[in-house]
Amino acid sequence: MKPKELKKIVKSIFMKHGLKKTHADTSSNYIIKAEIIGASSHGLARLKMYCNRIKNKLINPKPKIKIRSISKSISHINANNAIGFVAADIAIKKAISNCLKTGIGLVAVKNSGHYGLSSFYAEQAVKKNLIALCFTNAPPAIAPHGSKKKLFGTNPICFGAPTGSKIPFILDTSVSMINRGKIRLAAKQGSSIPKNVALDKFGKPTTDPNKALKGVQLPMSTFRGSGLAWMVDILSGVFTGGNHSGKVKDPFDDFSGPQNVGHLFIVMKSNIFVGPSYNRKIKENIKTIKKLPKIKGVNKILFPGENKYKKYKKNYNKKIFIPKNIIKDLKKLNN
Ligand SMILES: NC(=O)c1ccc[n+]([C@@H]2O[C@H](COP(=O)([O-])OP(=O)(O)OC[C@H]3O[C@@H](n4cnc5c(N)ncnc54)[C@H](O)[C@@H]3O)[C@@H](O)[C@H]2O)c1
Repeated sequence: MKPKELKKIVKSIFMKHGLKKTHADTSSNYIIKAEIIGASSHGLARLKMYCNRIKNKLINPKPKIKIRSISKSISHINANNAIGFVAADIAIKKAISNCLKTGIGLVAVKNSGHYGLSSFYAEQAVKKNLIALCFTNAPPAIAPHGSKKKLFGTNPICFGAPTGSKIPFILDTSVSMINRGKIRLAAKQGSSIPKNVALDKFGKPTTDPNKALKGVQLPMSTFRGSGLAWMVDILSGVFTGGNHSGKVKDPFDDFSGPQNVGHLFIVMKSNIFVGPSYNRKIKENIKTIKKLPKIKGVNKILFPGENKYKKYKKNYNKKIFIPKNIIKDLKKLNN
């Protein structure tokens, strides 16, 4: 199905579940964009989960989102358990407008939920020639280095910067070996996961996604990844007033209360220190790196985000493949 038609269906499903038209529009946009860039683990596969949480009053369909201004640069948002897409969309837009006034925008969000892919928020800032950092915490998946119990989420770190071209530099990565959505998708499709990304509940390496979901995911680069996951938990949870220390609820399995995810957005004018020469400098930087001698099998050195930008441009009007189980979900949810 074409993205436009699919978006209409998803929007109508959200509205049937009580979301305001504008919130349904924002949320369906982000879900379809994830599908277009091939991140199906963060697309339609999560729709049923969002709807279940709305039905169970764990996502508030009509939230009273409060924005407290701390200074011209700094705002604190209480999302009142809004769907994460909406809370994060409001927050990045606020961070951008604060930044345009003062040079830097810092916006923290508490009482939010899963917001999908961080890159979509960073991109909005980069389009305005700004540098962005986005953080969110997530439900327990990774055991802190030295522990055998999962506590940190896959806590993505996202950094965006203008490149002096249309293609934004967007490094958007989980701090686990692979993101949890990919493991869930493999479990749904009955496929296996790569070696060395997860342990089963007995601490043994596994390629079985179901065993991995019951066990722990491995952080990238052992204690370094664990340290980064911890950093994101502090920035997104401790600092913002959101849940932390393993208390963010799993949106799929834990219906005992709202998630209370926290997000943090930091946006900076790219020219604050070097003025208009930023563009020349960043182009020079990328050119230098791209010209380096390449290892066997690599034709081009890509900067982060380049691959996803090209995928989006190539696919944004092409039909999206929907697996049978998701078609079933869509039909049920749209009834
Ligand atoms: N909301 C949440 O709770 C949550 C939790 C975890 C992950 N996520 C999202 O999941 C998404 C996927 O995360 P991931 O860890 O699977 O990302 P990934 O492994 O697909 O990509 C990580 C980064 O590496 C870059 N990259 C990939 N191949 C490259 C290459 N050949 N050369 C240069 N750069 C390259 C990508 O552009 C990206 O910026 C992210 O968008 C993240 O925000 C969300």
